Amino acid sequence: MILKTGWDRIPAMENFDFDAPVDRENTASLKWEKYRGKDVLPLWVADMDFRSPPAVVETLRRKVEHGVLGYGTVVADFVELVCEMLSRKYSWRVDPQWLVWLPGLVCGLNIACRAVGDEQDDVMVMVPVYPPFLTAPKNSNRELVAVPLAAGKDRWEIDFDLLEKRVTPSTRLLLFCNPHNPVGRVFDRQEIDELVSFCERHDIVICSDEIHCDLILDTDKEHVVTAAVGPEAADRTITLMAPSKTFNIPGLGCSFAVISNSRLRKKFLRVMAGIVPEVNILGLSAAEAAYRGGWDWLAALLDYLRENRRLVESEIGSMAGVAMNHVEATYLAWIDARDIDKVAPGRFFENHGVGFSEGSDFGLSGYVRLNFGCQRALLQEALGRMRRAVSGR
Ligand SMILES: Cc1ncc(COP(=O)(O)O)c(C=O)c1O
Repeated sequence: MILKTGWDRIPAMENFDFDAPVDRENTASLKWEKYRGKDVLPLWVADMDFRSPPAVVETLRRKVEHGVLGYGTVVADFVELVCEMLSRKYSWRVDPQWLVWLPGLVCGLNIACRAVGDEQDDVMVMVPVYPPFLTAPKNSNRELVAVPLAAGKDRWEIDFDLLEKRVTPSTRLLLFCNPHNPVGRVFDRQEIDELVSFCERHDIVICSDEIHCDLILDTDKEHVVTAAVGPEAADRTITLMAPSKTFNIPGLGCSFAVISNSRLRKKFLRVMAGIVPEVNILGLSAAEAAYRGGWDWLAALLDYLRENRRLVESEIGSMAGVAMNHVEATYLAWIDARDIDKVAPGRFFENHGVGFSEGSDFGLSGYVRLNFGCQRALLQEALGRMRRAVSGR
């Protein structure tokens, strides 16, 4: 997709080599430091082992060479660019005033918990889910109501009957993850409509974490913005988005909330006041460069990830003791390894040289999450280790 940008100083790069090895050891990388000095391949935390789009790297290089790293500010052109991107990509008309800039989405989840309802109120989440969904309510003196997703025939689904059973009169907030980390679902229009109706019936605010929305792998699916399904949805939704997963710049902490309901937005801003720092200047520069000049790179990335997904699905599908559903979006595979260890299969794989995220951290033991956002050679080596591990049991 080409956006009206005027960003003609960045050369267009058409060939992107995602197979090119990138050495991340000794780079203070969270993902790689965990297994420093050990023969364990890190396929855990959700960042990718690819260099960011050339437009991002070039912009950051210039910024660093400029050498002055003072306070940043979100300029009007950038806001306009973000609104234009949301309109063109998601048919979502966003007023610039609805945007609230954040140094991270986890921060946004925690602010949402404090901004909605009162202490001791209930916050609903659907499990398994990205771990900060499970900790944010407690951090904010709210009670967690964790409702399992349903294991459908070949995909994970929202269990609407169970939501009705578990909802309490003091449930004020639902933390929703779409596309879903870790189960990889792209919830469709019907599912989101039904979820919004549920929240309307119970007067629940939705905090919709859509950080993975640009990483839709199934070409017959589209991301549906929760807040965009209708005015009622918009009025009760805090949307959280970022370029961080899309363009592999999560370490730079630039993200935003979109809140059209002014009362809710004011409350959100009040909770942030004096506590949440501004987005840093490198994060802003990288985000702007990505949204202006990263789209060709993203298209190429998605093709590469589709092939990695095909490899993971076919390998896992033919291994004993593990199983998974099709991954519709994200670069994460949620693998059922209960036959290996009902409690901590991650430990088993770690002992065999592959580091996954442990399912229990996501509220569902017996599973592991595999991050396939890496060079194919590394993925093949990891899958080979997995196969040897499960067949040697
Ligand atoms: C669903 C979801 N939300 C939020 C985040 C993290 O966001 P941030 O790094 O901006 O706090 C992640 C990272 O994996 C994620 O998967």
